[in-house]
Amino acid sequence: MGKIRVSPSLISADPANLEADVFSVKEAGADLLHLDVMDGHFVPNLTYGPLTAERLCHYGIPLDIHLMVDNPDSVVPLFLPHASYLTVHVEAATHLHRLLQLIKDHGVKAGVALNPATPPDTISYVLDLVDLVLVMTVNPGWGGQKCLTGMAEKVKAVKSMVESSGRSIDIAVDGGITSMNAGLFVSSGADILVSGSHVFKASDRRSTILALKESTPKHP
Ligand code: DX5
Ligand code: ZN
Repeated sequence: MGKIRVSPSLISADPANLEADVFSVKEAGADLLHLDVMDGHFVPNLTYGPLTAERLCHYGIPLDIHLMVDNPDSVVPLFLPHASYLTVHVEAATHLHRLLQLIKDHGVKAGVALNPATPPDTISYVLDLVDLVLVMTVNPGWGGQKCLTGMAEKVKAVKSMVESSGRSIDIAVDGGITSMNAGLFVSSGADILVSGSHVFKASDRRSTILALKESTPKHP
């Protein structure tokens, strides 16, 4: 099992003080910075645009940008210059294969996200283009929701697809992740833990992030 990486989700940070919160989690050992881009259509919430991503990508922590937008074909180009990982939802992409190819062609790691109801085999014909599979463990739109721990079975299914592909593809879980459930997802095959409220509401962010990184697989 590879190194577990933690990607704090900024949606739970102080929107009036993003810079301080970014520095805080970077100092606390975050490996990535998860930027939830929501357009008010794919999900009812509205969050960040490319100007925020452009600013945030200069803090020396790779941006893990999660696009929850209805029209990823037109939004992807706006974020390509600032993303280390750029993740689109399989449910929103009319031409997913072409879109992932576009992301790859720009030297950005291509991610594909699956909502809770979406089966893993929807991505079987694009696995050769994918660097990250983001398994949603909540219904997207907000931080602070209860984790759908049943998605651990989907993580296991994705893990076995990745293993049969022979490619090194990261598997992330996103939504309601805490030190209480991280071990379950790690033992199911996740190696990136996206965590918003658990990290940003913690009094000691360093030990919270460390605990997530050291989450021992808890066999259900
Ligand atoms: C939900 C987002 C998640 C969420 C994570 O639509 O994709 O990244 O903000 O926040 P927590 O960890 O608080 O659920
Ligand atoms: Zn997210």
